[in-house]
Amino acid sequence: MSNEYILVKQSKPLYGTVKASGAKNAALPIMAALILNSGKNVLKNIPNSTDVKQMIKLLEDLGAKIFFDTKNNYLEVDTSEINNFEVKSEIMNKMRASILVMGSLLARFNKAKVAMPGGCLIGARPIDFHLKGFLKMGVNVKEQIPFFDVTFMNKGVVNNKIILEYPSVGATENLAMFACLKKGRTIIINAALEPEVLDFLDVLKKMGAQINIKLPATIEIIGVEKLNSVEHEIIPDRLEVGTLLLACAVCKGEIHVENAQSEQMDVFLEKLKEMGHEVECNDGIKLKATDLPVAVGFKTGPHPGFPTDLQAPMLVAQCVANGRSIIEETVFENRLMHTIELQKMGAQIKIYGNKAQVNGVEYLYGTEVIATDIRASAALVISGLVAKGETKILGIHHWKRGYDKLEEKLKKLGANISF
Ligand code: EPZ
Repeated sequence: MSNEYILVKQSKPLYGTVKASGAKNAALPIMAALILNSGKNVLKNIPNSTDVKQMIKLLEDLGAKIFFDTKNNYLEVDTSEINNFEVKSEIMNKMRASILVMGSLLARFNKAKVAMPGGCLIGARPIDFHLKGFLKMGVNVKEQIPFFDVTFMNKGVVNNKIILEYPSVGATENLAMFACLKKGRTIIINAALEPEVLDFLDVLKKMGAQINIKLPATIEIIGVEKLNSVEHEIIPDRLEVGTLLLACAVCKGEIHVENAQSEQMDVFLEKLKEMGHEVECNDGIKLKATDLPVAVGFKTGPHPGFPTDLQAPMLVAQCVANGRSIIEETVFENRLMHTIELQKMGAQIKIYGNKAQVNGVEYLYGTEVIATDIRASAALVISGLVAKGETKILGIHHWKRGYDKLEEKLKKLGANISF
C-alpha cells in the first residue's frame, strides 16, 4: 500500500464550471483495439491516469511506438511494428483491463499468451465468460498457471452465436475484437452496451469493422480481412461527471459540467432529482443542490441501470441525507467495503449481504480512512468534503488510477482538497 494520501477538509458550497476528462473505461478497450490494425492511430481526450499509462506500457512492450502529449490528452499509437503476442505477468497483475488485449492479439496473430489478471478487492473477477466465448469460436485455450496460451487454428469460417450469461463489459469487448478479423458471422447475445462499450464499437466501425447492434442487446459482427488505422476522440467520463455532481450535492452550491452527456446517465440523474436537487440537462449538466436532501435507495445493475461505479459516491450522499435508504450492489460480490471507512466517520450504515441500510445523519467527522478501489477513493473524498474537520485518505494510488487531476477540478469549484 503506498503511503500517499489526500487531505480533504470540510468545504463551503461549490460553484463554477468544469469539464470532465475522457472516459477511462472507453480509453482502455479502445487502446487494446488498436492492435487490430497496423498503422498510425490518433486518440484524443485520453485521460492522463495511471491505468492509461499502464496500457501504454503494455502496448509498447508488444512493439507499439507511442507518443502521449499528457498536457493535451493527445495519444499517437503506431501499431505497425507490433511483433509480440505475449503479455508479461507483471504487466497483467498491475491492471485487470490488460485482459482486453487477448482478443485483439488473437485476431492479429491467431495466438496470445496472457496471465490471469489479478482479482481485486471488489471481487474475484474471473474471466470465464471471456474463455467460454473464445472456446465457442474455435479458440484453443491451454491453461499453464498463471498463463493462458490461446491459439486459433481454424482457418475456416467462424459462424458463432455467443450467449453471454451476464452482460460482461470486458467479455463483450474481448470477443468483439476477435470476431472483427475472423471470416464469418458472429453474434453476441446479452452483450454489454454501456456508453464506453458503444464508443469502443464506434472505433471498430471507424477502422472498417462490420458491426450491427440489434435489439435486445445483440451485437452482430461480419469478419473482414483487414482493419485500418483510426483517429477518434474518447467520450467524456460519466463516472467523473457523477463524482463532480455528488461533491456539489453534499457541499451544496451550483455547478455546471459543460461536456457531460446526460443521456448516458439517466437513472443516476433521476435519483439526484428524487433527492430534491435541481438537475438541468440542456447544455452539459447543471446541478443546483438542495439544502434539504431526501435519502433515496437504489440498486446497481448493467447499463442503463444504476452504474456500479457510482454506487460508492452515491452512498455517501445518502449518509448525510434525511431518512433511511437501502442500497443494493448486484454487479460485484464485494463492493461495499467503503462503508467500513464511512462508519469510522460517523455514518450510520448496516450491511446485510450485498445490501447497505443507511440512516442519514447531520454530520460526518473527519478521520484517517483507506480507499480500497478507484470508486471508493472518490466516495471518501466526497465524504471528506462534507465531514467536519479533516479527512486523510490513504490508498490514493487508486484515485490516480481512475482520474486525471480530478482534485484540481474540485479545487477549482472551491473544494478544500490537497495532495
Ligand atoms: C468493467 O469491468 C469496468 N472496467 C469496471 O470499472 C465496471 O465496474 C464493470 O465493467 C461493470 O460495469 C473497465 O471497463 C476497464 P464485467 P469488467 O466483466 O469488464 C463478473 C472501474 O472502477 N464476471 O462487466 O471487469 C465480474 O466478476 C472499474 O472503473 C465473471 O463472473 O466488468 C463482475 O462481478 C471497476 N466472469 C461482473 O461479472 C467473467 O468472465 C461484471 O463484470 C467476467 C466478469
